[in-house]
Order: sequence, then C-alpha cells, then structure tokens
Amino acid sequence: MGLEARLEHVAIAVTDLDAAVAVYNAVLGRPATGREVVESEQVRIAFFDLGDSRLELLEPTVADSPVGRFLARRGPGLHHIALEVGDIEAALERCQAAGLAPIGEAPRRGAGGRRIAFLHPAGTGGVLLELSARTG
Ligand code: CO
Repeated sequence: MGLEARLEHVAIAVTDLDAAVAVYNAVLGRPATGREVVESEQVRIAFFDLGDSRLELLEPTVADSPVGRFLARRGPGLHHIALEVGDIEAALERCQAAGLAPIGEAPRRGAGGRRIAFLHPAGTGGVLLELSARTG
C-alpha cells in the first residue's frame, strides 16, 4: 500500500477471441493463463500473465456495449491500460481534484473481483485509463 504502483494490465479489443488467443499464443509460446466473462463490462476476456502484469484480450459479449461500440468505431486495437493503485477511493479523489472524469459507476467490480474505475481519455493524453485495486 502507499507508494507502490504497477502496470496491472494492457487490454486489447478484439472481434474474435479465439483467433486473438492463437496469435498471442504464437507470440508468447504458451497458452492463455485463463478466461473470464466480466458481466459488468459486457466482455469475455482471455489473459496471459506477463510477470507482474498481464495482457488481456477483450471480446464484447454484445455489440451494444462499450467495447462493442469501440470496435465498431475504431476497429480492433489497444483499448486501455490499467494501473494498480493501493486505495482506489483516494486515487479517484485525487483524479477528480485534478479534473479527470471517471466514466460510469466508480469504483465497480472488474475481472478477478478487483475494484476498478475508468478515467475518460480526454483528460489522460488520449488513453483510456483504468484504476485497479485489489479487493479487501
Ligand atoms: Co481492464
């Protein structure tokens, strides 16, 4: 807690999860670490552990969802990066004081039961940023 921070994951939006898994399987030389459906985000994910962080592949479960609309607008590609914070409420307070707007309910429950919040890319240099905290 406190000063520690780390890259929790990098998330890529894909239209075909199995095809994307096969690509990263070839790149990394090993199978995906796991899969999960995250109802709150309307995505099906596959992830690859990368040391202290991970790569997430996101496929929308329905077209009319944030990731589905992203794909329709921009096509597959880098969707967001997630930074781990120790105290997500404190981080959100700091962000809001700095004029950064959360998107949707914040914090909410994300993959792996983590508490997450998204910050609008307009304030973060054009990158959709996820704050992510361990539960507990
Ligand atoms: Co994420």
